[in-house]
Amino acid sequence: MDESPAEVDVTMSQVAAPLAIEVQEASENDAATGEVVFDLHDVNVYYGQALAVAGVSLEIYKNHITAMIGPSGCGKSTIVRSLNRMNDSVSGFRLTGECTYHGNDLYASGVDPVEVRRRIGMVFQRPNPFPKSIYDNIAWAPRILGLKENLDERVEKALRGAAIWDEVKDRLKTSALGLSGGQQQRLCIARSIAIEPDVLLLDEPCSSLDPISTASVEDLMQELKRDYTIVIVTHNMQQAARVAERTAFFSLDVSEGRRTGILVEYDETSKLFTRPTDKRTEDYVTGRFG
Ligand SMILES: Nc1ncnc2c1ncn2[C@@H]1O[C@H](COP(=O)(O)OP(=O)(O)OP(=O)(O)O)[C@@H](O)[C@H]1O
Ligand SMILES: [Mg+2]
Repeated sequence: MDESPAEVDVTMSQVAAPLAIEVQEASENDAATGEVVFDLHDVNVYYGQALAVAGVSLEIYKNHITAMIGPSGCGKSTIVRSLNRMNDSVSGFRLTGECTYHGNDLYASGVDPVEVRRRIGMVFQRPNPFPKSIYDNIAWAPRILGLKENLDERVEKALRGAAIWDEVKDRLKTSALGLSGGQQQRLCIARSIAIEPDVLLLDEPCSSLDPISTASVEDLMQELKRDYTIVIVTHNMQQAARVAERTAFFSLDVSEGRRTGILVEYDETSKLFTRPTDKRTEDYVTGRFG
């Protein structure tokens, strides 16, 4: 609800795979035993007649960072946008299969997509602050939701949570458009967390950022996962390896002239990058793909 439709720039710029990817040591979070937030079972997504993604089954765990990687067009954005009903407004969009959120069917009749997006926030590839002041960017969604009490505190908490408070506290009334790209992206994260969602979906949040801003957004994700469940789409495999407990590798199945996205492998990140079970995953993570 706090975003205009994404203007997603489709690039393959970061697909060139490294030959060696450093992965995190397994942490206590690695075990797939946590609380399930999203449970997808045999999900298919169509745009009109075209089957864009087929047969996706996966579980996403609470307070984990889950990464989605794979070549352009394999359906990463489609799946991540399906998790907060962001595709509803796309004409011809249709989802079949089961997609539950804390055990509730996200696509059941009667589910309010606006409420879904309140709980499941989204940040896009290009920072997209509103042409308003820094303060008003953060206060916008709380005001719409009637959360007007202690608004100053709420704004400060969100900006602190997104690790940008110190940089903006003396210029809250100035335009958000005057911030650097990295600051704008953290502002957009602050805007998402101002209404205290449950989940943050990040679709290539660092692809327009320099390495320093990227590092600060990655640090921020590590902080945020204490309170939030995070799903990140990234073309940067080192980034997936650095931040995510679990990684889903999607690819394209090409047959009869049709290109359909499929989930090839989903596992703990360390396993997916060092001991993948599928040859296609191995080829991709070692750079032999494409
Ligand atoms: N709004 C739409 N209308 C029609 N087809 C779409 C739409 N959005 C995506 N598609 C198609 O669905 C497929 C998956 O696209 P998607 O954007 O999910 O891929 P992706 O993995 O996010 O790619 P990228 O890495 O380039 O961002 C593609 O074939 C794409 O053309
Ligand atoms: Mg995408």
